[in-house]
Amino acid sequence: IDPSLKLVEEIKRLKKEKNAVILSHFYVEGALQDIADYVGDSLGLAQAAASTDAEMIVFVGVHFMAETAKIINPDKKVILPDLKASCSLAESAPADKFAEFKAKYPDHKVITYVNATAALKTMSDIVCTSANAKKIVDSFPEDQKLIFAPDKNLGNYINSITGRSMVLWDGACMVHEQYSVEKIIDLMDAHPDAEFIAHPECEKPVLLLAKHIGSTTALLNYVQSSDAKKFIVATESGILHQMTKACPDKVFIPAPSNDSTCACNDCEYMKLNSLQKLYICLKHEQPEVTLPQDVIEKARIPIQRMLEISK
Ligand code: 13P
Ligand code: SF4
Repeated sequence: IDPSLKLVEEIKRLKKEKNAVILSHFYVEGALQDIADYVGDSLGLAQAAASTDAEMIVFVGVHFMAETAKIINPDKKVILPDLKASCSLAESAPADKFAEFKAKYPDHKVITYVNATAALKTMSDIVCTSANAKKIVDSFPEDQKLIFAPDKNLGNYINSITGRSMVLWDGACMVHEQYSVEKIIDLMDAHPDAEFIAHPECEKPVLLLAKHIGSTTALLNYVQSSDAKKFIVATESGILHQMTKACPDKVFIPAPSNDSTCACNDCEYMKLNSLQKLYICLKHEQPEVTLPQDVIEKARIPIQRMLEISK
């Protein structure tokens, strides 16, 4: 790339020229959130993808999110800055292994957390995100047997607040699994005025400490409505950008991890996105997300069901 190029201006120009919309998740770097037409959690992004009239969707997030946008918009071009932006949860549930697992529970309906491949969604009755998981589970009769995949931590949490005993697939997010309960307690002791808040992908011992649990949007809303001035935040670090923007007078402390040697609160997949890659992606209109027609048709049914219930 020509170093004299003003990337932000060029991206905005290309976006207009190509009638594209930029959708960014809260976990990507701040500059990529600021340039977006819409920034949000997985549910908000799926809803934004469903309602856009742009000709092209540029998804600045991870692959399963772009795939979801493509499934909702099979006739639009969906591109993302780096095709390698995967997700440890999506990778934890290969379609063939999940098919074997599902076959063991023939009388169960399948609720799939959106952090999953399109192939997994084709085997699902309905999709959910962390923002609407309880509502989706509650939409089934109490005696309906359920499988929840792929996040066992979110599944466990929903079981605990609904009194259900859904069968859980054994998957987890590498970012949300690494928090240290001991270090969080020490930090809470050191900052008694801080509220501890967490994403439901965290493990149960971490969630038990939390004053508030929710999706990224729910956590962002919470810090704005709470009277507290300080928060310890157990989710990916990108959300701190929006929290600081929304509440410049409040203090946000990333929750500590078990491993003090790494930037563990960063999702390595989300952080594959960059302004440079976004520019190249918009300019060349690739890499593009493509899916076989039959996968699009089958995966669309459980996604549309979720969107209907979440209106
Ligand atoms: P949200 O839907 O809460 O934004 O979460 C997405 C995600 O990938 C969490 O790790
Ligand atoms: Fe997947 Fe975890 Fe990254 Fe979210 S933070 S995209 S669940 S690996």
